[in-house]
Amino acid sequence: MQRKALIAGNWKMHTTLVDGCALATGVAKSFDGKDDREVLIAPPFTIVSEVSHVIKDSGVIIGGQNVCWETSGAFTGEISPTMLHDAGATAAIIGHSERRQIFGENDEMINKRVRGAIKFKLLAVLCVGETLEERESGNTFSVLETQVRKGLDQVTAEEMKQVVIAYEPVWAIGTGKTASKEQAQETHAFIRGLIENLFEKGVAEELRILYGGSVKPVNIDELMAQPDIDGALVGGAALDVESFGRIINFK
Ligand code: PGA
Repeated sequence: MQRKALIAGNWKMHTTLVDGCALATGVAKSFDGKDDREVLIAPPFTIVSEVSHVIKDSGVIIGGQNVCWETSGAFTGEISPTMLHDAGATAAIIGHSERRQIFGENDEMINKRVRGAIKFKLLAVLCVGETLEERESGNTFSVLETQVRKGLDQVTAEEMKQVVIAYEPVWAIGTGKTASKEQAQETHAFIRGLIENLFEKGVAEELRILYGGSVKPVNIDELMAQPDIDGALVGGAALDVESFGRIINFK
């Protein structure tokens, strides 16, 4: 089964209007538009709208870095799915380890966000990943199983078409330490197997599983050559046009 690759750039809390628009323009220009892949960028909320204007018609998709489950209301500091649509976004990153670790988001809240994104027709990029301590104590698979099960609670097989999972080992994020291609492949295969158990084979075969954690121009090709790695979620290297340009045009 041929899954369309997805390369996503998570800009985190970086860029303001001028440099963000310049970066987005550069990304759009460097994307060679191959139809076997999609490119997504997730700028800070404040510039989603401007960035989406700047790169409209380029084929690059825009996402938010988080999303609430309600369309409006008393949710200070949150962004709603309708607001994201309004600003030109069609996807949302959910459950990033920085949201989990620094801002205390738990699996229940992340599940609400996933279901909210699905309900309002956004592509939900659900992030999961173990810490170094969890890996070293041999708990990687049980941690991932809990995050995947709880994150996808009450999501139907049909709705899984709107879900992408990003496996991001916490110890590899922003550290320059990438999981080896073998480690990443093993974990992706585990997640795919879990999805088959939770849903059905067809859902597992169609699901795109991205790898994230110090993805760079030097390691993208070998990661993408793994059978269960369908794309990447890129942080640091997504802020540099040349690096991200090389990553999106992986071989
Ligand atoms: P990194 O970040 O590429 O800088 O490691 C990845 C992420 O946090 O999504």
